[in-house]
Amino acid sequence: MTDRAPTREVVHGDGIAWLQAAQLGPEVALVTSLPDHSELEGPFAAWRTWFVDTAALCCAAIAPTAVAIFYQSDVKHDGRWIDKAHLVHQGADRSDAACVFHRIVCRKPAGTLGFGRPLYSHLLGFSRALRLPSGFGAPDVLPELGVMTWSRAMGTAACALVCRYLLEATACRTIVDPFCGVGTMLAVANAHGLDAIGVERSAKRARKAAALQLP
Ligand SMILES: C[S@@+](CC[C@H](N)C(=O)[O-])C[C@H]1O[C@@H](n2cnc3c(N)ncnc32)[C@H](O)[C@@H]1O
Repeated sequence: MTDRAPTREVVHGDGIAWLQAAQLGPEVALVTSLPDHSELEGPFAAWRTWFVDTAALCCAAIAPTAVAIFYQSDVKHDGRWIDKAHLVHQGADRSDAACVFHRIVCRKPAGTLGFGRPLYSHLLGFSRALRLPSGFGAPDVLPELGVMTWSRAMGTAACALVCRYLLEATACRTIVDPFCGVGTMLAVANAHGLDAIGVERSAKRARKAAALQLP
C-alpha cells in the first residue's frame, strides 16, 4: 500500500475495444459484471456467444499472474436456467485460465422462496498462472450482498470481499472494470486503497462512475 490517495479513471467508451488495446501489468486485476441479454440488442444466441467470447477476452487481457473476477447472476430464458458461471468457465477454458476464487453471494437469506431471478450470484475468479495459496481459508458463502446502487449493480459487500481477497492473496493493487456501470466496484476499490479504472458505454453512467462515493 502507498501513502497517496487511490486513483480513479473512468473512460466513456467500449469496454471490448479498450481491453483489446490494453497492456495490463501484473498489478492489475479485472473485476466486472458482464451485461445480461436484457441489456444488449440482438437475439439470445448472439448474446450467449458474445458473453463467452468476452469472458475469454477478459481472462486473456490480464497478465498471467493476475486475476479476472466475474460477478454474475443467472437468468431464466425460454423456461431454462442460463447458468452464467458455466458460460464464464467456457470463456476461461478458451484462454487457459483456471478457477482460483469461487464464492456464492446470497441475494436474499438462504431458504427464501424464489420465483423470478435467482437468490444467489456467482463470484468467480480465473488466472492463467496464479494458483490457490495453501492454507488460505475463507467463507465460501457471503450471506448478504450489501447495498445495490442500482438494479444491475454489484452488491457492495461482494465488492469488499473481492478487495480483501486481492489484497490478501494476490499482488494486484489496481482494479479494472470494463463494464463499470455506475462504478460500484471502482468506489469500493478506492475505499480499500486500490486504484481503479472503469469503462462504460453509457455517458450518464460513466459520469456517475467517476463521482460515486459510498458511505
Ligand atoms: C451489469 S451492468 C454493470 C453494473 C456495475 N457493476 C455497477 O455496479 O454499476 C453492465 C454495464 O455494462 C455496460 N455496457 C454494455 N456493453 C458495454 C460495452 N461494450 N462497453 C462498455 N460498457 C458496456 C452497460 O451500459 C451496463 O452499465
